[in-house]
Amino acid sequence: MNIILLGPPGAGKGTQAQFLVEALGMVQLSTGDMLRDAKDSGTEMGKLVADVMSRGDLVTDEIVIGLIKEKLDGEKGAGFIFDGFPRTLAQADALGKLLNDCDIKLDSVIEIQVDDKALIKRIVGRSTCGGCGQVYHDETKPWPSDGKCSSCGSTDVKRRADDNEESLKQRLMEYYKKTSPLLGYYFAKGNLVSIDGLLSMNEVRDSLKKVINKE
Ligand code: AP5
Repeated sequence: MNIILLGPPGAGKGTQAQFLVEALGMVQLSTGDMLRDAKDSGTEMGKLVADVMSRGDLVTDEIVIGLIKEKLDGEKGAGFIFDGFPRTLAQADALGKLLNDCDIKLDSVIEIQVDDKALIKRIVGRSTCGGCGQVYHDETKPWPSDGKCSSCGSTDVKRRADDNEESLKQRLMEYYKKTSPLLGYYFAKGNLVSIDGLLSMNEVRDSLKKVINKE
């Protein structure tokens, strides 16, 4: 099973991808995580994208397509979860070609629908574990009271540089201008399924599982 998770910033793509990795052994390919890793390790590419990301703009198609290509060549597992990729029509075309070349079938494109008001709350309250990337939220999924990540035990709490209202406005603008046309693109291809992302994390996970198990 190979799927794309589509949705605005804060929709829950990363949270749900983690569930699927743990439950089904799928491989999460998050271009946001790859770009943040490059930024943190201070590579030339990381330096190039740091400002773009903190403003909330999209990184060039060429860079992210290159990152995905590298991973597709190396990773194996019970299917891929494309999280935050593709984000433009050019990226969608490039992914189609890459999958075709690797003889990989795209099974579903799952849109996680959440309204803008809820997104602000989710983004502003988010933190992630510096050890393993587990996603937390100040209200809906707070850090364990002993201060240790429930997955890896790390005490390194991270907040993203682009998790503020100003960058979020720009990220949303980019989403509606450049990424939302993909909904029509994948609908026309017959791949699109939409689920309600305003439900609790576990309910969203159950909806996703139903799509994956074709129930
Ligand atoms: P990226 O890292 O992909 O960020 P994003 O798309 O903005 O999405 P987020 O990671 O912010 O949100 P999410 O949907 O994963 O939500 P999460 O599960 O964390 O990209 C960052 C930047 O990198 C981009 O702006 C761009 O610059 C660049 N970039 C990346 N990919 C690119 C590409 N392909 N092309 C060009 N540039 C690219 O959840 C959010 C919070 O809500 C968490 O705290 C979580 O606990 C909580 N939550 C989740 N689900 C629920 C629920 N059901 N109920 C209540 N709370 C919930």
